Amino acid sequence: MLTATEIQAIDHEISLVPYKKATVIEALKIVQEHRGWISDESVEAIAAHLEISPAEVDSVATFYNLIFRKPVGRHIILLCDSISCYIMGYGLLYNALQNKLSIGFGQTSSDNRFTLLPNVCLGCCDHAPALIIDKDLYRDVTVEQLDDMLNKYA
Ligand code: FES
Repeated sequence: MLTATEIQAIDHEISLVPYKKATVIEALKIVQEHRGWISDESVEAIAAHLEISPAEVDSVATFYNLIFRKPVGRHIILLCDSISCYIMGYGLLYNALQNKLSIGFGQTSSDNRFTLLPNVCLGCCDHAPALIIDKDLYRDVTVEQLDDMLNKYA
């Protein structure tokens, strides 16, 4: 079941487009913003509100890699693994993050603090290697910077 706050935000999005169905991705983002991830129950609630099938909502949810269909940590680390970053030290960063957090890609640290995910080019290849934590972009990242970087996220 959607909360009143979620319904209000989704209804605002619906008011901006000709068809309710056109707001699926926005509805998913709104619900994920409030709940952290998209459960089967959330898919069904969104589908009911938009008057479409849960399968239609799920197909959108599973298409976008930043819509999470299983629980994630409080902070999401997106490590760029595209060519420029790969050449400029992605492997060192990945190994260091694996060791510091004891997780690999697709996993969440035992304290539920971080989920580590690979990501395609972040659009700053001239400052590779790069990563994003939540909404913060870090460029020219070195292994030595990682501790200070991670300490910013409780
Ligand atoms: S390849 Fe990493 S930012 Fe472009």
